[in-house]
Amino acid sequence: MREVGPGARTTISFKVNGGAVEVEVSAEDRLIDVLREGLRLTGTKEGCGIGECGACTVLLDGKPVNSCLVPALQVEGREVETVEGLAKDGRLHPLQEAFIEHTAVQCGFCTPGMLMAAAALLRENPDPTREDIARAISGNLCRCTGYHQIMSAIESAARRMRAQGPGASGAGTSEPPGAPVVSEASRREIHSRDSAD
Ligand code: FES
Ligand code: FES
Repeated sequence: MREVGPGARTTISFKVNGGAVEVEVSAEDRLIDVLREGLRLTGTKEGCGIGECGACTVLLDGKPVNSCLVPALQVEGREVETVEGLAKDGRLHPLQEAFIEHTAVQCGFCTPGMLMAAAALLRENPDPTREDIARAISGNLCRCTGYHQIMSAIESAARRMRAQGPGASGAGTSEPPGAPVVSEASRREIHSRDSAD
């Protein structure tokens, strides 16, 4: 990880949902700040801010992480996936469809994090047991649903994705054939929390 002194700023480059971005950050910025404030990817939610609720879950190099705990400087050169990257070509990801069908979305605050945790699970394990699903979302709190609908939705999406084959996995940074790997880089400045106060 790059060394940056307190108050100093630097530019980091990484990929978000398959596209290259450059963002100016300070040592105090967290990944969730970069996503929500710097890149305006507000699908990722902040609940507790201390790593306990999972609302801020995104994928970092394919693994679910709490973006409220990840220093922005740590994502230099890496790949981040957010809920905005799940739908492809105007079509919802099978997980998103299943969440709607199973009424697994109520207030919706936990949903982006749940979807990303579930997407990571189904990529590694296309045929998870109920226990596998419970384990995969054990770091994601939901105050509304009681989890039953969410687990049923993930089971249903897994069935659908297995039936549709590998192309149904949707989630991820896979580019359509022939698409440029790197989109036009954007540079946005994150206002430090100090200056926002
Ligand atoms: S906001 Fe990150 S775990 Fe709660
Ligand atoms: S749907 Fe409200 S917290 Fe999960």
